[in-house]
Amino acid sequence: MDKFLIEGGRRLSGSISISGAKNACLPILAATLLSDDKSIIRNVPNLRDMSTMLKILKNFGARVQQDADKITIEPKGYKKYIAPYDLVSTMRASVCVLGPLLAKQKRAEVSFPGGCVIGPRPIDLHLKGLRALGVDIKIEKGYIIADGRKMRGANVYLGGHFGSSVLATANTMMAATLIKGVTVIENAACEPEVTDLATFLIKMGAKIKGLGTHQIIIEGVKRLHGAEHSVIADRIEAGTYIIAAAVTKGDITLRNAKLENLVAVADKLAEAGLDIRKVPNGIRARYVRKLKPMDITTLPYPGFPTDLQAQFMSLMTVTEGISVITEKIYPERFIHISELGRMGANIQLEGASAIITGVKSLSGAPVMASDLRASAALVLAGLVAKDVTEVHRIYHLDRGYEDIEEKLTQLGARVWREKER
Ligand code: EPZ
Repeated sequence: MDKFLIEGGRRLSGSISISGAKNACLPILAATLLSDDKSIIRNVPNLRDMSTMLKILKNFGARVQQDADKITIEPKGYKKYIAPYDLVSTMRASVCVLGPLLAKQKRAEVSFPGGCVIGPRPIDLHLKGLRALGVDIKIEKGYIIADGRKMRGANVYLGGHFGSSVLATANTMMAATLIKGVTVIENAACEPEVTDLATFLIKMGAKIKGLGTHQIIIEGVKRLHGAEHSVIADRIEAGTYIIAAAVTKGDITLRNAKLENLVAVADKLAEAGLDIRKVPNGIRARYVRKLKPMDITTLPYPGFPTDLQAQFMSLMTVTEGISVITEKIYPERFIHISELGRMGANIQLEGASAIITGVKSLSGAPVMASDLRASAALVLAGLVAKDVTEVHRIYHLDRGYEDIEEKLTQLGARVWREKER
């Protein structure tokens, strides 16, 4: 295993390119299974999660060719429909192969995805959506055994206790593309990644309306053809580097990033005092004055994204005053609090809210990465902490941040990787 070392106290400035969105890529790669034809997906980030998804597609019998950020997938003739435990257990998002397999093969056996450190990751809304379409589903020996031979379009409400569900929307939408009848998904997720998936499906010949809204309407068609698509920029990666500019009092330009996909985050950071603006082909984030403490609540899109909650918390730990962060999507997503505390942060957890009292400075310390976004939060804290911070189990970070040390170094950070002894 590797660890990441960060020498804090350096101001970040300059410009970097934002990579393709991990959370758009994963369902889009799965969606290529909806056709026998070849599809080409571009702007695919070089991340562990991508290789896991490609392994799953190859496991079904699809031919996969990777040429830098361009992936060519030829599913023709793939017959298998079992997504095994050893692959699904390494990446719970693989559950999004359910929809395409059912639409194309009318069968699917997918290992039941586990939870993770940010909380139990139920899939009841995925199963509700597919059952509404007439899929017969049994759970046996840790597998979802699904029979889609009687699927028909239907209306289904996919709002759960925590609001809409990104991948349940993706699964239901993909399943509905190739079945007879019209499907209406109410309280659909409208994250940009869902819209990007729908855009790709439409390029394949799917009939979908309501992109970017909480009501998505799919009219089934007989077949879909292959398509070419370039994945949207990763708004969570962009938001992470915007916060890096804020926390190091820097000035960073993010090429390819779209401010319109980060409105809630930009609104909060601008209110705090950060100068954040759209520039040709990107976003510029510049520290211009002392920041004010901000309260945030994470909500489904277009609310403040839960995937930037930990990173925002790192910023608030060194922002004078009191700020409150309420996590409404994954109420247990606070594992980073204890590690930030090791660096001198002053955070009290009250139920699903964290109360942060800004401190003058953090001190570098050995800390443990636990999930992708908590790891990013620890790196951000390390950038501003005194001395050196060691972030252990950095493989979590490699799941979602392409070339992070190169990008941080390009911006003037002193970061390096070492083997764990
Ligand atoms: C996607 O996960 C993202 N992952 C997550 O990003 C992100 O945090 C999440 O959406 C919310 O935006 C990918 O796209 C690969 P949900 P997903 O279904 O679709 C509950 C990252 O760091 N829920 O939108 O699995 C669920 O427990 C990852 O990149 C049900 O109750 O999330 C949560 O509280 C982490 N039943 C809420 O809904 C269900 O059937 C939102 O989850 C499904 C979800």
